[in-house]
Order: sequence, then structure tokens, then C-alpha cells
Amino acid sequence: MTIERTLSIIKPDAVAKNVIGQIYSRFENAGLKIIAANMAYLSRSDAEKFYVIHKNQPFFKDLIEFMILGPLMIQVLEGDDAIAKNRRLMGATDPKKAETGTIRADFAVSIDANAIHGSDSQETAATEIAFFFPEINVYSQRNVSSGTF
Ligand code: CMP
Repeated sequence: MTIERTLSIIKPDAVAKNVIGQIYSRFENAGLKIIAANMAYLSRSDAEKFYVIHKNQPFFKDLIEFMILGPLMIQVLEGDDAIAKNRRLMGATDPKKAETGTIRADFAVSIDANAIHGSDSQETAATEIAFFFPEINVYSQRNVSSGTF
């Protein structure tokens, strides 16, 4: 197993539903540590930069309008196999296709309002983490075991 980091965003729909804590519990129960966190509104230009990879997709405009509707909860997760583990916890992009018990199946209503974003590869994770967090604000816990306290 490799210790990885991944970027996670709780989107405006899930923040408005008041389920940040329930989603954080799922990360923690799966062994993922929250090593950076920030609540923020995205400006339109930052949303367009963050999702630039999708800029030619037909859903790009709706995606940007949705992501600037309200505050986001943005975090870095660290742990064994964190990228794939987080994607399993999230479930399929379209909540109608997401497995029962996943975050999107439980908290999302549509492919646009799909509750959560997570990096899809090591390369994307590095870029997405750097987009939101300077390294000095990322507090690795890899050398801290619960037996320390
Ligand atoms: P996310 O994981 O944040 O990455 C891009 C987002 O675009 C995705 O979640 C969805 O919310 C949104 N989206 C809307 N339509 C589609 C689509 N057909 N395929 C992929 N993503 C889509």
C-alpha cells in the first residue's frame, strides 16, 4: 500500500444540506486523515481554472454556475491508497448510478448537484492540492500514530 494524498471538495449542495460532519466521518472511518481544510467560495474565474480540463464539455457552463452557488468545504485527505479509496467512498459521478451506501448515493440528487469531488489520479491530485493549499498549510500525519497521544 502507498500513502497518498487526494483533494476532496464537498460541493455547495452538500454544504447546504449540513452533512459536512457525516461526510468527514466516512473519511475517518475509512482510515483517511484530513490533513488540510478550508471553507471557501470559489470565484467564477477560479472555478473555471480548477475545472479547465472540462472546458470543452457541454456541461462546463452548468458545472461552473453550480460550483459558485455557495461555499465549498475543501480538504486534503491522506492515507493508504487515498485516491482510489476516496473515489470508492464517493461512488459514481452520477448519483443515480452510485452504489448504495456511497456519499453520492446518500447525499446527491443529480450529476450536477453530486455532493462531492475527488481527484482521479496521482497527477491530478498533486495539481488540485497545489491549486488550493500551499505545502506549508498541509499537515501530514503519516508519522503520527494514534498511540502517540
Ligand atoms: P466532478 O467529480 O466534480 O468533476 C466534474 C463534474 O462535472 C462532475 O463531478 C459532475 O458534477 C459534472 N458533470 C456534469 N455532467 C457530467 C457528465 N456528463 N460527465 C461527467 N461529469 C459531469
